[in-house]
Amino acid sequence: MAEYVKIASVNEVPPGEGKAVNVDGRRIAVFNVSGTFYAIDDTCTHEEASLAEGALYGDIVACPKHGSRFHLPTGRVLSLPAVIPVNTYPVKVEDGQVWLLPEPQKGHGMPHKV
Ligand code: FES
Repeated sequence: MAEYVKIASVNEVPPGEGKAVNVDGRRIAVFNVSGTFYAIDDTCTHEEASLAEGALYGDIVACPKHGSRFHLPTGRVLSLPAVIPVNTYPVKVEDGQVWLLPEPQKGHGMPHKV
């Protein structure tokens, strides 16, 4: 059974920004939305692009390559050209660190308020 792993300190992911991390060979993007952390697959489901580098609009990230928007809490695609949702990952914050459970979720992630 997977266990939570430390992926970043809270200070490394300021509000309104994302950061790509590698966990068990997976590239995962973690975002800070006004103190709530979300994690999704970093690679866009359309082509090769890092969603961690996309612009945030509330809890939505826009792919930096062609602009598809993904809903961070659910991984849902909100606009073309991507049509496949991204996986989400449960995250929690403890002792100023962001922890992630490396088990992809098709449904809702579990955001954690700081
Ligand atoms: S690579 Fe993300 S929308 Fe095309």
